[in-house]
Amino acid sequence: MIDDRVRAVLARLEAEDADERAREVPREQRARQVVRTTGQFLFSLVAPQTDCEVLEIGGSRGYSTLWLAAGVRYLGGRVLSLEHDPSKCEAWRRNVAEAGLEGTAELIEGDAYEALPAIDDVFDLVFLDAEKDDYDPLFQLARSKVEPGALFVADNVLSHEETLGDYSRARQADPLLESVTVPLDRGLELSVVLREDLPPSPPG
Ligand SMILES: C[S@@+](CC[C@H](N)C(=O)[O-])C[C@H]1O[C@@H](n2cnc3c(N)ncnc32)[C@H](O)[C@@H]1O
Repeated sequence: MIDDRVRAVLARLEAEDADERAREVPREQRARQVVRTTGQFLFSLVAPQTDCEVLEIGGSRGYSTLWLAAGVRYLGGRVLSLEHDPSKCEAWRRNVAEAGLEGTAELIEGDAYEALPAIDDVFDLVFLDAEKDDYDPLFQLARSKVEPGALFVADNVLSHEETLGDYSRARQADPLLESVTVPLDRGLELSVVLREDLPPSPPG
């Protein structure tokens, strides 16, 4: 649930983000967090689900993690977040603890390409918010961690249409998915897994 502790950390992170943008802090040093309304949207997707297991690829300082973790706290579940930048990881841990969400969100510190194959869990929602060139291979890696009914949410598909247009087109052309671009903020590709990948047909 969104209590005063969560709201206070969200508000501080929004103020810090605005300040860093105003001071033109280099992109790689900034949080690059989702827009507040995207956070509210993520919250709305997970809050009604029972025992909702969330995988977040690109945790940064924890802004989107807080929205997701506050949502899953209603009906149970947890958020597993992947982040490889040590200073972002340190901030993530501080922010999640300050919001009182350390029992609901967990961080794996390291490269998602290495971390993902070692994860055995099955997820109900995957939030993809890492480097834009990596969306497709990271989607493929995370694809084996979900079952039919799971939802992939990928941010920035309209703000980075030149890089991520192919990602959206590939998801929308995949008969194993139902995928739609939601024109909220920077653009979100929502892809529901309809059925398992078919096994290869036997030779002959
Ligand atoms: C756009 S930011 C994520 C913002 C975050 N979702 C939020 O809204 O607060 C992208 C993050 O992904 C991380 N990242 C990029 N590639 C990664 C990888 N291969 N493994 C783990 N983290 C990665 C970056 O360090 C950066 O913090």
